[in-house]
Amino acid sequence: MNDRDWEQFKQKLFAKSNIDLNQYKPAQMQRRISNFMARQGVSTYAAFFQLIDSDPKLYKTFIDYLTINVTEFFRTPEKFIELEEKVIPQLLTTSPRLNIWSAGCSTGAEPYSLAMIMAEKTPGVRHRILATDIDVEMLAKAKKGVYTPGDLKNIPQERLTKYFSRIDADYALNDDMRGRVEFQQHNLLLDKFETGFDLILCRNVVIYFTEEAKDALYRRFFAALKPGGIFFVGGTEAILNFRDIGFQHFLPFFYRKPL
Ligand SMILES: C[S@@+](CC[C@H](N)C(=O)[O-])C[C@H]1O[C@@H](n2cnc3c(N)ncnc32)[C@H](O)[C@@H]1O
Repeated sequence: MNDRDWEQFKQKLFAKSNIDLNQYKPAQMQRRISNFMARQGVSTYAAFFQLIDSDPKLYKTFIDYLTINVTEFFRTPEKFIELEEKVIPQLLTTSPRLNIWSAGCSTGAEPYSLAMIMAEKTPGVRHRILATDIDVEMLAKAKKGVYTPGDLKNIPQERLTKYFSRIDADYALNDDMRGRVEFQQHNLLLDKFETGFDLILCRNVVIYFTEEAKDALYRRFFAALKPGGIFFVGGTEAILNFRDIGFQHFLPFFYRKPL
């Protein structure tokens, strides 16, 4: 494998998938891709591209592997308690109907966790919850709303009974909750952002993005928030230069756009 092989692979993959590997950390990405290639018994990126280009099933497995879709309801429960008890009440003081975006929502556990919180906090009010992901397969699963017990391990029995019904070993989310979230395909590194959000969550999505890609992304999230809006990041993703971007510190892992 050489640099030319890698450069050409990145170009071809971008043309096929719209995934721009230039915006991901090269060492981690090359290691992940090499591991995947080794399992297929190929040793050059050119041969690997040919393989995924001619095998749609393998291509899909590779894209899933690259974008890693692991998620769960109320991920990092102590942060969700702060969201519920401190952040949302603060936002509701200025906007009675919130405009929320879960960016990189995977199979929907994150936006549906929000839907439960909002339904309980403000019965009768329909907030907007937009949930986006690059991966259409994950979005299809999200819309279906069927989960394994492992996905639901942070949900107390009361919410489980209230919002889910059993289908054999799995749990199906009820239609009311499913109707509260609007799913759309969206590539955070390429597509336009809407504006006017009260709350944006982008958690456990940027792990493999370069520092430059992350910085550009955070600036775009800042622009997408309303004044007073809050940006919620993952448990290992504190933003060191939040002040340079224009954010104020609200709580650990929550940043606020000044009023
Ligand atoms: C680990 S999951 C995180 C899910 C959820 N936010 C959570 O914290 O549980 C990461 C998600 O980010 C998505 N993703 C990765 N790169 C993306 C991009 N450029 N644009 C949009 N979504 C992306 C993946 O498809 C994946 O579903």
